[in-house]
Amino acid sequence: MSAAFWDDRYAASPRHLYGVEPSAFLTRQRHRLDRRQSVLAVADGEGRNGVWLAGQGLKVHAVDGSAVGLQKAMRLALDRGVNLRTTCADLTDWAWPEGVYDAAVCIFLHLRPEHRRDVHRAMARALRPGGVLILEAFHPLMWI
Ligand SMILES: C[S@@+](CC[C@H](N)C(=O)[O-])C[C@H]1O[C@@H](n2cnc3c(N)ncnc32)[C@H](O)[C@@H]1O
Repeated sequence: MSAAFWDDRYAASPRHLYGVEPSAFLTRQRHRLDRRQSVLAVADGEGRNGVWLAGQGLKVHAVDGSAVGLQKAMRLALDRGVNLRTTCADLTDWAWPEGVYDAAVCIFLHLRPEHRRDVHRAMARALRPGGVLILEAFHPLMWI
């Protein structure tokens, strides 16, 4: 699905498509993260997860292909009084930072099978040694 697809979806309503509360799975992984750690929020969309992480005291860099989503993420961060760094980029064609983050968090990113391995490897390479990768993904059975 293209950036234009996500821009249209996010622009269709001032509300947040997936709400403003973080993924329940992510909140259950909270113990794996420490305050002041740096985290890359991959495909952060409208920012519900990145903004929650920032509210937990982490230094968050959110990346997503949708400029509209990231604008809404920045607005949410402002409303919550937290800092959020954003980058608008296609993850399949991004100059991924390497060895930089204490954690990477990716919640519900739809990727074509031919891109999945490379993007997941890039997430892992973006981590410092010992870094944590938190991934919530779809299972094919969900589509039956
Ligand atoms: C299902 S939404 C999930 C958003 C957010 N993680 C959440 O849980 O609310 C998927 C997100 O992945 C982003 N995305 C999909 N393919 C992408 C790509 N190739 N590059 C960058 N972002 C992409 C979309 O823009 C969208 O914001």
